[in-house]
This record gives sequence, structure tokens and C-alpha cells, in this order.
Amino acid sequence: MNPYNVETAPPCTLFLFGANGDLVKRLLMPALYNLSRDGLLDRNLRIVGVDHNAATGSEFAERLAAFMRERDKDLDPKRWARLAKRIDYLTGDFLDTDTYQAIGKHIGRSRNGNAIFYLATAPRFFADVVQRLGDGGLLDETEGFRRVVIEKPFGSDLASAELLNACLLRVMSEKQIYRIDHYLGKETVQNILVSRFSNGLFEAFWNNHYIDHVQITAAETVGVEERAAFYDHTGALRDMVPNHLFQLLAMVAMEPPAAFGADAVRSEKAKVIGAIRPWSKAMALKNSVRGQYTEGRQGRKKLRGYRDEPRVAADSQTETYVALKVMIDNWRWVGVPFYLRTGKRMSVRDTEIAICFKPAPYAQFRDSDAERPKPNYLKIQIQPNEGMWFDLQAKRPGPALAMENVELGFAYKDFFNMRPATGYETLIYDCLIGDQTLFQRADNIENGWRAVQPFLDAWKEGGEVHSYAAGEDGPAAADELLARERRVWHRLG
Ligand code: BG6
Repeated sequence: MNPYNVETAPPCTLFLFGANGDLVKRLLMPALYNLSRDGLLDRNLRIVGVDHNAATGSEFAERLAAFMRERDKDLDPKRWARLAKRIDYLTGDFLDTDTYQAIGKHIGRSRNGNAIFYLATAPRFFADVVQRLGDGGLLDETEGFRRVVIEKPFGSDLASAELLNACLLRVMSEKQIYRIDHYLGKETVQNILVSRFSNGLFEAFWNNHYIDHVQITAAETVGVEERAAFYDHTGALRDMVPNHLFQLLAMVAMEPPAAFGADAVRSEKAKVIGAIRPWSKAMALKNSVRGQYTEGRQGRKKLRGYRDEPRVAADSQTETYVALKVMIDNWRWVGVPFYLRTGKRMSVRDTEIAICFKPAPYAQFRDSDAERPKPNYLKIQIQPNEGMWFDLQAKRPGPALAMENVELGFAYKDFFNMRPATGYETLIYDCLIGDQTLFQRADNIENGWRAVQPFLDAWKEGGEVHSYAAGEDGPAAADELLARERRVWHRLG
């Protein structure tokens, strides 16, 4: 039995389209290695890389091994060998029908008809690959299950996401589609639902009577890295908001599902994202701030500005930072602003949700020398210091009535021995066992883009891209967004 006491995933052939890309070597293969180490993969699971470069199965496996050894000095050679013998490779052009015939033969040779097609390709191939899988009869489930995993980005605006969904749904059913958002693979993200729905106390104050506002932050210290070709026409809003940040928002704001099944959970998420108020263009401009990093420092290290990064246009207007205010128009959240911010090259890496509570209804200690109490925050830190912390006011010991902020905390590392993981382990395992709870349904995706579209439309017509020095926490205009409502950003870190 494996350490988690769960069933071993069923046998299957897992086709990795875009096998020579970064995702496969950096995340998918390490995740498969961890699953294999934990005994969660069936001995008849086969992994077949599909890409246009010529290679044999063993060459492909050796390349992956070299990369993994470099990153993980403790890679166990015996465990790797167990996984490596399942690895094969198929040279083929994604647009060529021969590729799909070869895939069909591969499946035919397996002892089961189950297949997963994982599209770790550039997004421009998604529709074409799926169409060819359909034309080749490879999505027909008579011989076994057939599932397609689609990576992000899923579309680049509402219209393109709708179009892509329509293409997918022409050749297969929703239950065969696994749209990935890797944030849902994070333990701390899944834990939000467990915390909210298995601890009676949260529900008592989880509403607009007690919560003043919510801040969702994904701050990164990395810059655009080698990804300018993608990032320079994508920007922070498209890259992070309709997907990762809205997933966090949905976890915090959704209603309890009637059951803990994929359909019920995803319906509640779709509902709450669908309840985000669609801003007019003018309101979208007023409620958003864009920023781009310029030259700066992180400690002693000098950092170049975004426009000086390799392959970024010298006059690029792409935002590397965005801060937004959104409102959720439903009974629970009416009047509670949700402020979202994300940026590259900020001072610290910190993905967190800060729930800010309303002040005590009566200023009990107003006649004393005590300072005004600070607001209570519940901080849910997704990464890197996983855990939850509650800020409270406490009396500072001594004769005077003085208050101080203290913290009640739960750090994962104090309670759980978390095995190193990429976050993709759960997602791959769930796809193998056919559990779609942690994958995005078509309506989730479209509702996300619907809420983001007004910002995209408004920015086409105007608005400034503010600058911020690399190593700082975004432009001053983002502080203004909150200051005009007498609020401040929660301190990062
Ligand atoms: C990806 C974005 O989806 O998420 C990247 O394309 C970003 O730009 C990354 O850096 C952040 O993921 P994580 O897990 O490091 O928070």
C-alpha cells in the first residue's frame, strides 16, 4: 500500500505532447517520479513523449534523467530506473495525421484501451491537436477511457476561450476534458475548502457582516526569465488573474457545495466567479492599476528593467504588475471589495490571502492611552511559508493599558511532514482516476474571462502603465487604489 492509503491509479498510456518542452522536464516528469516513488502508478502505465524532434524512447528518458539528476542530487537511481522503463517516445508533427495513426497503434499495443493526451504544447496547437485526435477516432471511449489535459493559457480573452471550448466540445464531452490550473494542485489551496467547511467557527463570520475586505496577492521575485516571447504579448493580467487569482478568490468566496463531488464544487465556483460585477470600461479603468518594472535591486543584486530583458520590445507597454478591485454581487459578499494584485520582480515571494475584519463595534478603550486597535487579519499563506495566521490585539503586560498585535498561527511545517512535491502529482493522479474536482470546467473559465474582459477592453483605449523599480512592491498608484477607500495593502512576507 502507498503512504496515502489510496487506490493505485488504473493502467493507461499517457501521451505527453510537447515532450521536449520545459513543462515536461521541470514539472511533469518529477511529478510522475514522485507518484511512482509513492506506489501510485500502475505497473502497466506507459508514458509516451510526442514531439517533432527525432529521438528514441531511451534517448528521451536519458535526457529527462540528466535534467532531473542535475536538479535533485538525491534522485534514487533504482526508483528512476523503474519509471524510465515505462518511457517511450514518438516522433511526429502535431499537425500530421500519421502522428495520430502511430498513437492509435501505441494504444492498440497496450493491454488496456485507456489513454490520456496531455497537451503540454504551445497554446496555438490545442484546437488542432484535439481536432486530429477526434478525427482519428482516438477520443472514442469504447475501448477504455480517453481524456485530454489542456494546459494554461486557455484562451487570451473571452472570445478565444469560448471558441476553444466550442472546438473541444465538438469532438468530446466535458467529462473527458481536464483543464489545468496548477494552483489547484497546491495543498494550501485545497486546504482553504477544508478549513472553511470542516471548522464550524469560520462560517459564523465569513460574510459581509464581519469581513471588511479581502486581499489576494501573488508576489513574485522572478522577472520575465526566458519567457518574453510568451509574456510580452500576455502580461500579468492574462497570465495570473482569470486563472490562478480567481481560483483563490473562488475558494474563499464560494458557497458550501451540496456534496464534495466534481460537479457540485465546480458549480459553486462557477457561480461565484460569475457573480463578479462586470465593470463598465470607465469603472474598469478606475479600479485597476498596471505597472511595469524598471531597473532596480534585490539586496545587492542589480536588476535590469523589463524593457531591457531579452526579447522584450524596447517600447513594450506590457504590464508586469496589476492591482484590481472587484466586487462580488451576491448575498454573502455585497459591499465587500476584493483587491487582487500580482507582479513580477517584487520584494518577496508571497502568495497569500488576507481577510481583513471589520473593527470592533465599539471603541471600548477610547479613553485610555492605548492606540487605536489595528484591524484583525486572517492571513492564509499559500506559499512559501505555508500556513494560516490570525492577527489579534492583546494587552501588553505592564501597568499601562497598551495593546499590541500578536499572532495565532498554524504553519504546515510544524504539523505535517510535507514531502517535496511539484503540485502536479495530485493533478496527474486525479486525471488518472477520473476525478475532475480540481480541474476547470468550461463555465469556470468563461466566467473568469468575462470578469477580466472589461479591464482588457478599457486598457486598449487608455490608462497609464505605471513604473516601479524592480525589487519594490508595485507602483505607488496601487497604494492609491486602496488609500482612496481608507485601506492599505497587507504587508508582504
Ligand atoms: C504561471 C505563470 O502560470 O504561474 C507564471 O505563467 C508564474 O508567470 C507562475 O510565474 C506562478 O506559479 P507559482 O506556482 O510559482 O506561484
